[in-house]
Amino acid sequence: MIIDLTNKTIETPRLLLRAWRITDIDDFFEYASVEGVGEAAGWKHYTSKTAAEERLRIFIAQKDVFAIIYKENNKVIGSFGILERIVKDSSVKELGYVISKDYWGRGLATEATKAVIDFCFNDLNLYAVTCAHFAENIRSKRVIEKCGFSFACKKTHYAEQLDKDFEACFYVRFKESLIAVLQNIQEKFGYLPKKELADISEQTHIPIAKILGVATFYAQFRLEPVGKHLIVLCQGTACHVNGAEEIAAAIKEELEIQDGCTTKDGLFTFTTAACLGCCSLSPVMTVDGETFGALTPAKAKTIINDFRRKEGTE
Ligand code: FES
Repeated sequence: MIIDLTNKTIETPRLLLRAWRITDIDDFFEYASVEGVGEAAGWKHYTSKTAAEERLRIFIAQKDVFAIIYKENNKVIGSFGILERIVKDSSVKELGYVISKDYWGRGLATEATKAVIDFCFNDLNLYAVTCAHFAENIRSKRVIEKCGFSFACKKTHYAEQLDKDFEACFYVRFKESLIAVLQNIQEKFGYLPKKELADISEQTHIPIAKILGVATFYAQFRLEPVGKHLIVLCQGTACHVNGAEEIAAAIKEELEIQDGCTTKDGLFTFTTAACLGCCSLSPVMTVDGETFGALTPAKAKTIINDFRRKEGTE
């Protein structure tokens, strides 16, 4: 998604966020020329108005940075970017702000950040936003934590303008949750392709091992492609005492595969699960979500062959 904030405004009790105008140059130079303001965000404070104006023209051309106006005096007191990271047009953006030193300590960064997050999720429909702070910048850390971000990782960040490596902490906030993102991917692909998981990791800064940890913890997620028909055999107590083991053996024999595998023709994937919630029908299996109860080994084989017949593969 390409961000264009040209005609967007966000209003909070004390602030107005709108697109930058070239007439903002005096206010911009006033706060951006103060040492320590830009440095906290990785860029050097401006010593000439011409250089500041060049940067302002870039903000205007890029269209992804708001000017922050303090409503009480109608002054521009900072900037707020909804920025592209490594992955182009992604539905994850990185938030970054700078506020005039004169306005620090008043909760304005938190007020602006919460409003921008709402805008990102409700108007732009992003699925996550990220942000970062230099490890020593405790002020930003507090804002980030107050705005509901979760820590993703710590890594070294080279700030080109300052020609210095910084230890930086990266955070992410999901519109819903990581689990909801994984569910959407599985719905789209039928499983969780490794490339998709790697993309999430790259975009959100969450280490891939942590994402795989979530994906493997929940039985609902599959890391391998499934066949056209998914057979799930219940192994809960009621089904177990009524012969689920014999049925499992019959299914495996019929399909010539083991639990968790897919047949060579890609038609069936066989897996097991805990109680499927219909114990009175035990032993039970589902095929593509349809329940088959009171199973016997022979009945399970017949059901599989009925599917084969429909597919013309028997
Ligand atoms: S134990 Fe199998 S459906 Fe409950």
